[in-house]
Amino acid sequence: MQFTILIIDDEKNIRDGLAADFEMDGYNVKTAASGKEGLDFLEKGGIDLVITDLRMNGISGEEVLQHVTSQMPGIPVIVLTGHGSIDAAVKAMQNGAYDFLTKPLDLNQLEVIVKRALEGRELRVQHEALLETVKASQKTQITGTSPAILRVTELVKKVAPAKISVLITGESGVGKEVVARSIHNLSPRSGKNLVIVNCAALSESLLESELFGHEKGSFTGAENLHRGKFELANGGTIFLDEIGEINQSTQVKLLRVLQERKFERVGGEQTIEVDVRVIAATNKNLEKEVKAGRFREDLFFRLNGINIEVPPLRERKDDIPLLLNEFLERYNEENSKSVKGFDSESRLALYKYDWPGNIRELQHCVERAVVMANGEEITADDLPPSIMNRSSENVISIPMGIKMDEAEKIIIQQNLAFNKGNKSRTADILGIGRKTLHRKLEEFGIE
Ligand SMILES: Nc1ncnc2c1ncn2[C@@H]1O[C@H](COP(=O)(O)OP(=O)(O)OP(=O)(O)O)[C@@H](O)[C@H]1O
Ligand SMILES: [Mg+2]
Repeated sequence: MQFTILIIDDEKNIRDGLAADFEMDGYNVKTAASGKEGLDFLEKGGIDLVITDLRMNGISGEEVLQHVTSQMPGIPVIVLTGHGSIDAAVKAMQNGAYDFLTKPLDLNQLEVIVKRALEGRELRVQHEALLETVKASQKTQITGTSPAILRVTELVKKVAPAKISVLITGESGVGKEVVARSIHNLSPRSGKNLVIVNCAALSESLLESELFGHEKGSFTGAENLHRGKFELANGGTIFLDEIGEINQSTQVKLLRVLQERKFERVGGEQTIEVDVRVIAATNKNLEKEVKAGRFREDLFFRLNGINIEVPPLRERKDDIPLLLNEFLERYNEENSKSVKGFDSESRLALYKYDWPGNIRELQHCVERAVVMANGEEITADDLPPSIMNRSSENVISIPMGIKMDEAEKIIIQQNLAFNKGNKSRTADILGIGRKTLHRKLEEFGIE
């Protein structure tokens, strides 16, 4: 992170000497010859640390200190005092100065103090980012053993160690965010932030300042300097969700960050460099958007370093049992319940349903069923009507691994339901006699 230090001193020698020294150490430096000038810089924003002389004509160092501690409490202030004015230094410390140094200055000592103060500041900035992404530490494992999801898992493992941009595509609720988290967690960047931005949730101008930050006063309402998500993600990963929603001007800026890893805050001139891995996701067909002229082709290529397509749940129904168990366990725990499983009718309905909302829909369905369940097992009554309705479509799907007579029971039950309880028609369709049907209905206990 590049920090900006403001040096306020009315002695030109000290000002210039310190500026040269800190610039050599790689800091950005601003100098002010008076307290007034210093306050002007602070008002503009972008200052990370202040070094100020105490005794100056006009606005004194004490007043600068007081202004910073009351208005911008995150910015450390180091005060410089003349020889023999320890009392003033002690008072400054009591008033919130980070540290003090007496003149003549020991440069090495000053450098150490500055470094330490800024480390604290960097931690705070990172902490802010962490708070925004506490979600990121939640479960990241990709559940599933179907060939379709194993292909995804393999790809995740392969791309994780690299820096290449990844574009995750797939329908809503298939687990695109889960995949993004897994890539980050398996990457060498896992110790740093994963910062998530939902590009669809913000208006154009807000999205730009969210991504790149803004300087104080860059637009009405911009009362403070604001660091963007790219800065917060430095060293780590940024996940741009719903990338298909960004407008043309943000597309241009994003392209530059992807090419050069450089940008300016909104309303700012200073160029900021970051080391960020970019993962994007969309449920739109971006190639189509490119053809339609709504999405820049060059940006599409940059984002699409590697494409991971997450398949819809209906194409990996083998994963349903594992997912059901996982969510059953989770919602039992959350609701202090001990539902053991699903009865055969509800299980069948869950298999047959085609899950347009994918895993998210399945998850909500299990949560609801656990809450609704009265007994040890979840029954059809505990499932949403939409799922049960679909189960009366003219397709019967029978889960793997069930016994022959169970399969027979399901076939009879479904056909009978499909024919609205008409037994002779059901017997006809199944190619068995009415008597046989009656016997079987009794045997299986079907009403
Ligand atoms: N393989 C999986 N194993 C366990 N849980 C999963 C899996 N995939 C998705 N989920 C869960 O399903 C829900 C939806 O996943 P996620 O938010 O990643 O989907 P998405 O593709 O980003 O959806 P959208 O396009 O709507 O943003 C989440 O609660 C997630 O934890
Ligand atoms: Mg998502």
